Amino acid sequence: MSTCMFVTDQTHNNLPIVQIHHPSGSQLLVYLFGAHIFSWNLGDQREVLFMSDSAIFDNATPIRGGIPLVFPQFGGGDLPSHGFARRSVWSIHSMEVDTLVLKLTDNESTRNMWNNNKFTLLYSIKLEADSITTSLCVENQGDKPFNFQALLHTYFLLRNIKHTTLNGLSGKMFTDKLKDNLQPFVQPEGQPVVFDREIDRIFIDAPSTVTLEGLALSNINHGENNNASTTCYALNGKDGSVTIDINVDGGSGHDIVVWNPWIDKSKRMTDFSDDEYHNMCCVEPGYVSKWEILEPNTSWTISQKLVINDVGKSDGTGGSSGSGETKL
Ligand code: BG6
Repeated sequence: MSTCMFVTDQTHNNLPIVQIHHPSGSQLLVYLFGAHIFSWNLGDQREVLFMSDSAIFDNATPIRGGIPLVFPQFGGGDLPSHGFARRSVWSIHSMEVDTLVLKLTDNESTRNMWNNNKFTLLYSIKLEADSITTSLCVENQGDKPFNFQALLHTYFLLRNIKHTTLNGLSGKMFTDKLKDNLQPFVQPEGQPVVFDREIDRIFIDAPSTVTLEGLALSNINHGENNNASTTCYALNGKDGSVTIDINVDGGSGHDIVVWNPWIDKSKRMTDFSDDEYHNMCCVEPGYVSKWEILEPNTSWTISQKLVINDVGKSDGTGGSSGSGETKL
């Protein structure tokens, strides 16, 4: 176990952040707004996470990219879309060894929005040399049960969406949010998920491990206002894959949402540049096809461990796109 250094006196885009530095050179940057991880760098500026050039940093709008947290609701309803956790300012609960824990408790605004429910959310973020583990723990502090949904909404930075595959879901059932009805489909046996159109799927009773191939692991650095431009380029650098290990305390039955907005939806989103769909996809473990019920004085935890596997060979030889920055 390696001891990390935590830095808490910095801001980024005028929002307070926590930096976590691992002795290996890997680094995480986390906004307290939304408990939002916005950069995971493996060292040598090899970035894993996508952030939109058009993201908005006004301490109110959810941030487009990184790892937003969805709680207590996924879809439409009385609450804001994807809930209030990603729009709330979290506090630091603890920083020990290699793990930062952030905390959010109910307040007047959440109680007004959400049936007066009393809760504590603890979000722990552990940094290792080639992996991170993020765990969301929901505790019911009230005297009545509540229903909730939750999601770890990870945006990955890709070399080229058209050469990206998501493995581990073949033979698994999904609903397609782009279809009118909730009729389930099955991912054909032996076929990974590929991205050749808008994809917005909820895989139900999903497996505990999937692997995404096609990470850019690119030589960019998230700057202020917004980041270094990644748009529409096959980025130079070493590419690789990430294995996502999911664990839900209290049993199986979790979902994985898979999303890429493609051309038309990208144009409709004001905080996302038109061409950025080339370089991102979201793989989002959670609980959204049904509602989890939490009794008073009990807790529930979902965690994902993201492990970087292969890191390509060298610039221009490890990727599918050749060397240099190539307009797609
Ligand atoms: C995904 C949903 O989880 O998040 C998509 O399945 C949605 O339907 C996407 O478009 C982004 O949501 P938002 O609220 O951040 O724009």
